Amino acid sequence: MEQVFKVFLLLLLCQSLLVSAQSSYEDFVSLQSLTESWQNKPPSWVGSDPCGSGWEGIRCTNLRVTSIILASMNLVGKLSSDIQLLSELDTLDLSYNKGLTGTIPKEIGNLRKLKTLILVGCSFFGSIPDSIGSLQQLNFLALNSNQFSGNIPPTIGNLSNINWLDLSDNHLEGAIPISGQGVLGLEKLLKAKHFHMGNNRLSGGIPAQLFHSDMSLVHVLFDSNQLSGGMPSTIGVVNSLEAVRFDRNQLSGSVPSNISNLRNLSDLYLSNNRLRGPLPDLTGMNLLTYVDLSNNTFDSSDIPSWASSLPLMTTLKLENTNLGGQIPVSLFNQPSLETVVLKSNQLSGTLDIGNADSNRLKLIDLENNTITDFTQRNMNYKVSVVLARNRICLEAEASTERYCQESQSNSIYSTLPNNCSPPPCSSGQISSPNCKCSHPYSGTLYARALSFSDLGNGSYYKELELSLMTAFQSQNLPVDSVSLSNPFRNASTDYFEVSLKVFPSSSDRFNRTGVSNIAFVISSQLLKAPKFFLPYFFIADDYGYYAGNESKKSSHIGIIVGVVVAVVVFLAVALLAGIYVVRQKKRAKGSAELNPFANWKLNKNNGMAPQLKGARWFSLEELKKYTNNFSEDNTVGSGGYGKVYRAVLPTGELVAIKRAAEESMQGAVEFKTEIELLSRVHHKNLVGLAGFCFENGEQMLVYEYIPNGTLMDSLSGKSGIRMDWMRRLKVALGAARGLAYLHELANPPIIHRDIKSSNILLDEHLNAKVADFGLSKLLVDSERGHITTQVKGTMGYLDPEYYMTQQLTEKSDVYSFGVLMLELVTARRPIEKGKYIVREVQNVMDTTKELFNLHSIIDPLINQVTPRGLDKFVELAMRCVKEYAAERPSMAEVVKEIENIMELAGLNPASESDPTTEEIDVDANGGKLRRPYAHDEGFSYSGAFPSTKVEPQ
Ligand SMILES: *[C@@H]1O[C@H](CO)[C@@H](O)[C@H](O)[C@H]1NC(C)=O
Ligand SMILES: *[C@@H]1O[C@H](CO)[C@@H](O)[C@H](O)[C@H]1NC(C)=O
Repeated sequence: MEQVFKVFLLLLLCQSLLVSAQSSYEDFVSLQSLTESWQNKPPSWVGSDPCGSGWEGIRCTNLRVTSIILASMNLVGKLSSDIQLLSELDTLDLSYNKGLTGTIPKEIGNLRKLKTLILVGCSFFGSIPDSIGSLQQLNFLALNSNQFSGNIPPTIGNLSNINWLDLSDNHLEGAIPISGQGVLGLEKLLKAKHFHMGNNRLSGGIPAQLFHSDMSLVHVLFDSNQLSGGMPSTIGVVNSLEAVRFDRNQLSGSVPSNISNLRNLSDLYLSNNRLRGPLPDLTGMNLLTYVDLSNNTFDSSDIPSWASSLPLMTTLKLENTNLGGQIPVSLFNQPSLETVVLKSNQLSGTLDIGNADSNRLKLIDLENNTITDFTQRNMNYKVSVVLARNRICLEAEASTERYCQESQSNSIYSTLPNNCSPPPCSSGQISSPNCKCSHPYSGTLYARALSFSDLGNGSYYKELELSLMTAFQSQNLPVDSVSLSNPFRNASTDYFEVSLKVFPSSSDRFNRTGVSNIAFVISSQLLKAPKFFLPYFFIADDYGYYAGNESKKSSHIGIIVGVVVAVVVFLAVALLAGIYVVRQKKRAKGSAELNPFANWKLNKNNGMAPQLKGARWFSLEELKKYTNNFSEDNTVGSGGYGKVYRAVLPTGELVAIKRAAEESMQGAVEFKTEIELLSRVHHKNLVGLAGFCFENGEQMLVYEYIPNGTLMDSLSGKSGIRMDWMRRLKVALGAARGLAYLHELANPPIIHRDIKSSNILLDEHLNAKVADFGLSKLLVDSERGHITTQVKGTMGYLDPEYYMTQQLTEKSDVYSFGVLMLELVTARRPIEKGKYIVREVQNVMDTTKELFNLHSIIDPLINQVTPRGLDKFVELAMRCVKEYAAERPSMAEVVKEIENIMELAGLNPASESDPTTEEIDVDANGGKLRRPYAHDEGFSYSGAFPSTKVEPQ
């Protein structure tokens, strides 16, 4: 009994291991696919288990990837729709990777568990997808400091759990979304504490509905936009507010009087608008620290009494606000006051600053008023008083007085060493406050509503430094110390900026984990900065000193070597350029050495020319003509490789021209090899190559035109072609025959490597034609029967064994073909909403039941109660997707079986006769294999025309 129990336990264990290994493998494939084209991926990403072996930046729960934190990794690339495959993700932070660009894919909306999305300081552009509103769990969304444009999607109103919403520093435009006409708006975000929308191009009014008493807003920042109209009085009911910035807009009307209900407000920035009416009455707002109402057209008035009675006020700015009369001395006797700016008003009389010197006051700027005298003019006061352009300074003898000079900021701060003397450091290294030389991680910290203005008061910075160290230490990060320097207020945004350096403790540099965790602490607001500094954000400098990244280590010798190399390279390039120019000038028509095609046009028997069969050379001129200068109207597709154009040749023949984008071009020799390969492949079920163009830095392939589009478009209903069961069988047979030809009859054999429904084209009779040999790889090592290669392919179709072992065999195509067969039956994408078609079929399939119990997943458009042979077809597909390649049938066997199934179904496969044998292309060298490719193990066609990736819908 005990034994049985043990065995049972063991089985259970195996089962769960298998399941979990499987799921972490699934995320591995997703991650690979997501980051396939990224540069500077962490070198620790090796093996196939992102959860097990210390992959930097990845955290897992129950063997699923739940968190990706790759801030400041110098990543270059795009965020593809494959992100949706990481369906358990709750945290994604890719901040401070300026090389991350492109748009945010709409599929991000499928990450239903996402709580934290941080993409600060990257180069993303385009509009923020509406699907962002599907992220019901989202609590923290920071997209600031990118180049997003378009409107703020109203669907953001669905994010009922959002606390932090930062869209600042982008190019967003249009109105502030509020509910109406079936959409939700920002006012539905009852848990939101932060609306940070500054520095965009938002326009229109501030809707009154935006604010109501059920909200929890703390920071509302709409500075530097193009908002117009009045400030709604509803803002006065959101009494949790601590910072309000509407400065730098075009607001008009008067400031609602109930603004004084905001008893928790600390920072009020309304400057640089067209506000009218009386200067707002801020009496009783006893937590106010920073008030800037400058540059508005308020009614003329004396200095209001509240200006002298706010106990915590550090900064009062009422520049150009139509103030007149005498300045009360009580204004300068407030204990916290640091700065008073009353420039460009009509203040008059005698200035008396009382005992301003005995408190914290640093600056009294009264430039451009009409003040006639200054009580303390002959005293030894410390505060900086500016009376330039007042009556008192107009007389010639007064103009040299200190108070007649314009204000000059001399606030400097820089963290000092902690009782030690900084050692000399080698180049690139900097002494930390603890006097250790190292490579600090650095960047700029910004405060969006700084509550103080005495930028020379070190106690503020000490507090900030302390909070930084506390945050890093509480996360056990290897930080020795931090330093701050060069503080200043940016006059155009009124953001405060200070340089931050974070020094490593355990070695002279950080590793990737160290940096990304430090960055995350700041980007995710784990750092609890002092209140005067809130809200803040950070933009990192690139960190080029990762441990293990020796190439970035610089030394004097390195620099000298570098300079010498640069000079030599420069000279060489200049020389080559010179030679090129001379050659171009006296060229009789092309020179052959560098370009294998240069002479091809002239001399067809030239050894350099590609050995082509049935494919011809086109000039750029010709192709330009046929495509109407590559006009948009003639585009029939596009992808990473470039674009595909439709064109009509003078013979009337329709062709599709694949024009490589610059970044996907390959070398001339590789290109030649590719067209040689393509031109030798002739089969009814393969898209044929009609020619090529290689001229003027262009690489183009000209294919026969296949009119009915891709199988994917037909299955998805996009093309409008009705695919009944018979047609699907016929397509399957055609594609299988094409593939079998590549494997077994092409010489040398070819593995396609990217079989998928978007690479199966349908001709006018709905015959299948296999397209895109962009990833094809010749099977050169027939002894071993496989090729070790960098894994290429498309998510969902990829053979897991190939992925694990990186050994490519024909059986990898068989796997992809099996997936394709399931797609034919179900019309589902291989991975749809995070579900893998193979697993889905496995789950419902029951061979003891009628039609194997597949009713629920058969595509309803097959439109037959019991499609004949469908069960057998699925059975065959499942054999194709067997885990072990050895258990999968060969393509020739697949062809046989599909023929049998068709007979069962009442179709005559012979009428779909396979002309393969007649069309076999005997190799020109009498079957003796030239192996022009054999030398090149790393050779891949993907350079020139990587296949279009098809995003699951
Ligand atoms: C005002 O601030 C205090 C202290 O931070 C806080 O306890 C209180 O809840 C705030 N009031 C509102 C209405 O949010
Ligand atoms: C600097 O600021 C602190 C408040 O953080 C204040 O207590 C202190 O008096 C200020 N020092 C000076 C010299 O103004």
